[in-house]
Amino acid sequence: EFKENTIITVFGASGDLAKKKTFPALFGLFREGHLSSNIKIYGYARSHLSIEDLRTRIKSYLKTPTEESKAKVEPFLQLIEYISGPYDTAEGFVKLNQSILEYESTNNVQQPHRLFYLALPPSVFVDVAKQIKEQVYATNGITRVIVEKPFGHDLDSSRQLQEQLSPLFKEEELFRIDHYLGKEMVKTLLVLRFGNPFLNASWNKEHIQSVQVSFKEPFGTEGRGGYFDNIGIIRDVIQNHLLQVLTLLTLDKPKSYNAEAVRDEKVKLLKSIKPFKFDDILIGQYGKSEDGSKPSYLDDETVNPNSKAITYAAIPLEIDNDTWRGVPIIMRAGKALNDGKVEVRIQYKPVDQNDIFADIPSNELVIRIQPKEAVYIKLNSKQPGLSNSTSLIDLDLTYNSRFGDFWIPEAYESLIRDALKGDHSNFVRDDELDESWKLFTPLLNYLESEEGPAPVVYPYGSRGPEQLPQFLKDHSYVVNKEHIYQWPVTKPQ
Ligand code: BG6
Repeated sequence: EFKENTIITVFGASGDLAKKKTFPALFGLFREGHLSSNIKIYGYARSHLSIEDLRTRIKSYLKTPTEESKAKVEPFLQLIEYISGPYDTAEGFVKLNQSILEYESTNNVQQPHRLFYLALPPSVFVDVAKQIKEQVYATNGITRVIVEKPFGHDLDSSRQLQEQLSPLFKEEELFRIDHYLGKEMVKTLLVLRFGNPFLNASWNKEHIQSVQVSFKEPFGTEGRGGYFDNIGIIRDVIQNHLLQVLTLLTLDKPKSYNAEAVRDEKVKLLKSIKPFKFDDILIGQYGKSEDGSKPSYLDDETVNPNSKAITYAAIPLEIDNDTWRGVPIIMRAGKALNDGKVEVRIQYKPVDQNDIFADIPSNELVIRIQPKEAVYIKLNSKQPGLSNSTSLIDLDLTYNSRFGDFWIPEAYESLIRDALKGDHSNFVRDDELDESWKLFTPLLNYLESEEGPAPVVYPYGSRGPEQLPQFLKDHSYVVNKEHIYQWPVTKPQ
C-alpha cells in the first residue's frame, strides 16, 4: 500500500504538462482506487489563479470512461489546493510549508510523506529544487522529487544539472521520468525475455538477423516549433525514449528483478554500444505534404527560417558484446509521417538454404508499444487442409482482444504510483543518463556543427526520406516481397 496522508505538490501547476499529464494521471489513480482519499494535492505556480480557475483548467482533461467515474471528478478536485508564488524566492514555499504542516498536524501524521512533482521548464528547475530543500523538505519523513526531461542538452549541461541537484537530494529521493518506461509494453519486456526460456534462448546474434526500434508520429511540431528547434528529434525521443526501449530489449539477464540490479545491467549495456558512425545516419526534415495541404517544418513562424533541425533520424548501432556483436540494430524516429506507431521489430535469420524448407520466409517478432498494444510472431505453418504448401501466419497477442476492458494504466499513472511507493525500477538513474549523453553528444555536436550535413526533405505524411528502403536493406532488414504479410485488422477500441 502507498503511504497514507501523502502530500503531493505539482510545481508548474498552470502549465501544459501539469494540465495534460500530471493532474489527469493523479485523477486516473484516484479513480481506480490507487490514491487514498486522505491525500492532499497542492498546485503551485507563478500565475495568479483562484483554486476554481485551476480546477476548471484541469477538469476537461480528466478521463471518465464510465458513469461511476464521473462521480469521482468533484471529490478529486476538492483534494487540490492552489498556491501561487515565485520560483526563485522563499515566500511561496514558506506558505506552502505552513499549509502542509497544518494538514499534517490536523491529521496527526507521524511520518510525513511529501512528493514534489516538477512539471517545470529547465530554467527554473534548480531554483525550485533549492527552495524545496530549504523550505519544504520533510526532515523527519520521506521526501521524493519527480523531475521531467530535458535533463540537460548534452553531456556537459546534464552533468552540470546533476551537480546542482545532487547536494540537495539523494539519488534515492530523485525520480527522473522517461515516460516510455511507464508504458505497458515497455514494462513487459523483461518478463517477455527472461520469463520465456524459448525466447531468451534465441535472443542473440546466433538467431537474430536485425533489430529495429521505430517511432512514427503522424503530426509535425504544430505549435511546439519554438521548443523543438533547438532540440530536434534525437534529443526529443531517441536519446531517451527509444534508447530506453532498446536497452531493456538487449541487456543481459539481471541478477534479480529489483531496480538496482536491472539498472546496473542497463548501464553495462549502454557502455557496450559502439560509438555511432557519423557517415551512416539518415536525417530528414519534413517539407509540405504532396498535396500542399500540410505545412513544412520551416513554415512554422516560431522556428529559425534556415533551421537545420532534424525531424527524422535513423541511427544504426552495434552492441559490442558476446550476445549482440555483429547484429545490425536501428533506432528510427520521425514526425509528420504517414502513421502513428511505436514498435520493436526483431527479424530472425532465414531458414538454412540447404534445409528442407529452403524458401520460406524468416520469423519476425513484433512488439507494438502503441497504439493497440500487441506482441505477434510471424511463423510458418502448413496450409490447413489437403495442401502441403507452407504459409506465413501469426501467433497474436493483441491486448485488446485478449484482455478486453482490463485497465492498462497510462504511463504517467503507472510512474507516479511507482514514485509514491518509492520504486525506482522505471526511472532513469544518474549513471544511465550520463552514459546516454556520452553516446549521443558527439553525434549531436557533429550534426549541429557547420560541416554537419543538411537534412533530407521528405513530404509531410510520407514514410520519411526516400532513401529509407535502401538504408534498411543496407542494414540487413529484409523485406520479403514474395511473402507480403498483412497484419490483420484489429477490432476498433
Ligand atoms: C515526448 C516528446 O517526450 O514524447 C514529444 O517531447 C513526443 O515530441 C512524445 O510527441 C511522444 O510520447 P507518446 O507517449 O505520445 O508516444
